[in-house]
Amino acid sequence: MTPSPTPLNRRDFLSKTAAGIGAGLVLGAPRTAHAATDASDKIHVALVGVGKQGRVLFEAMSNIPGLHFQAVCDIWDYNRQGGIAKVRALQGHTPKGYSDIDEMLATEKGLDAVIVATPDFWHSPHTVKCLEAGLNVYCEKMMSNTIDGARAMVHAMEKSGKLCQIGHQRRSNPRYRYVLDQLINGNKICGQIVNVNGQWNRAVNSSQDIGFNPKLTIKQDILTKYGFKDMQQFMNWRTYRDLSGGPISDLGAHQIDIFNWFLGVPPKSVFASGGHDFFKKREHFDNVMAIFDYDTPQGGVRAFYQVLTTTSAGGGYYESFMGTQGNIRISEQTAYTSIYREDSAPSWDSLVSRGFLKKQAAPPKPEPAPGAIASYESAAPEGFELPGDISKPPHQPHLENFFAAVRGQATLNCNARHAFESEAPIYWVNPSALSRLPIEFTAQHLTV
Ligand SMILES: NC(=O)c1ccc[n+]([C@@H]2O[C@H](COP(=O)([O-])OP(=O)(O)OC[C@H]3O[C@@H](n4cnc5c(N)ncnc54)[C@H](O)[C@@H]3O)[C@@H](O)[C@H]2O)c1
Repeated sequence: MTPSPTPLNRRDFLSKTAAGIGAGLVLGAPRTAHAATDASDKIHVALVGVGKQGRVLFEAMSNIPGLHFQAVCDIWDYNRQGGIAKVRALQGHTPKGYSDIDEMLATEKGLDAVIVATPDFWHSPHTVKCLEAGLNVYCEKMMSNTIDGARAMVHAMEKSGKLCQIGHQRRSNPRYRYVLDQLINGNKICGQIVNVNGQWNRAVNSSQDIGFNPKLTIKQDILTKYGFKDMQQFMNWRTYRDLSGGPISDLGAHQIDIFNWFLGVPPKSVFASGGHDFFKKREHFDNVMAIFDYDTPQGGVRAFYQVLTTTSAGGGYYESFMGTQGNIRISEQTAYTSIYREDSAPSWDSLVSRGFLKKQAAPPKPEPAPGAIASYESAAPEGFELPGDISKPPHQPHLENFFAAVRGQATLNCNARHAFESEAPIYWVNPSALSRLPIEFTAQHLTV
């Protein structure tokens, strides 16, 4: 796997987090050193796909100085007008609107970058077109609904020499970078990592089909032209096999990417199971469980991942790295993040005194178990916290990294090749679950 770029040190982490504010350290100054003020210095940006995520990205970009939002492209008039209105409200000018990306690329002059937040099956055609037009691209994850679509994106990035950042935003998240660079690799607090698990569990009521207002539909000829059977499919593209990889790629992509990035090697196999347990008419499995086996330089690791759309039990979404000396559970959400030292591990007092970790107040002692049970129980682990917390919207650091790279002041934290190497195993989860057979990876499965 291609190693992650420049490691994040403790001081950098504090400077990017809320602890840094209290400590009076230099706060997350954008790496756009000559934060553009005059028009010629601005990065000219087009937004393609301004649905839910397109707007989340736009709001995060509104905090980044030196950007000019020149054009908005979306096939749905309702979202296009909404996107234009949002740019007007937050940026004070009206961008040009397009319903078709080809028309936008043929008409707009002087663009530097395009933000692609369309449904997954459009990512590859949109990204390849933009790269071939000489533009830098930030494209949302999952790279594509097919592994060949993802391969085409890597080829187009490398052939064009342009930048292509994939929206695995945790790759730029100071919490993730600090945990990997300082706690797991630097201070090796987990000892030997032997097991990993991760999950994204959602309740039935937050997984229901998305409805629409019959007065705000798209004409059938437009839907057909852009690959949607009808309005129901347009709104719920995530549940269709030709348009998306389903929950394992929509949600699992974030977390299986972390498994592969943190372990530094791709898995050697996957074995998965999935079912239409509740949403029986959906093309994709509603619940999927997958086990990946790894050979890391420290030894074998098994990683278990589950994505459930039928229960939120078990507390949200996170990835856990479980080692012989410590356990780090990490998430974009502070509430799901926790760190424990195994009772048998050497003391972490010096990590605390040097500011790498903060000690948690000791939890109340459990009632003593009966003798026979106690002999099988491990002692309660000691809890710790990170020394700082994140103060920016979750996508902002990744977008900052992209625009700093456009200015030639940074390298991308997750270019199309990094993303491909990490995403490739995910494309094989559904085939394993469908065939009910394990897949031993060969170069053909995992290489561009
Ligand atoms: N990184 C993250 O945390 C994160 C979170 C949510 C979604 N996403 C990703 O963002 C992307 C968009 O997801 P969403 O939830 O916003 O979906 P959405 O359906 O709400 O929005 C998609 C938008 O794209 C438009 N569109 C569809 N086809 C188009 C085309 N050919 N040309 C131009 N516009 C087109 C639609 O009209 C819609 O406005 C997906 O790839 C998703 O995986 C990422």
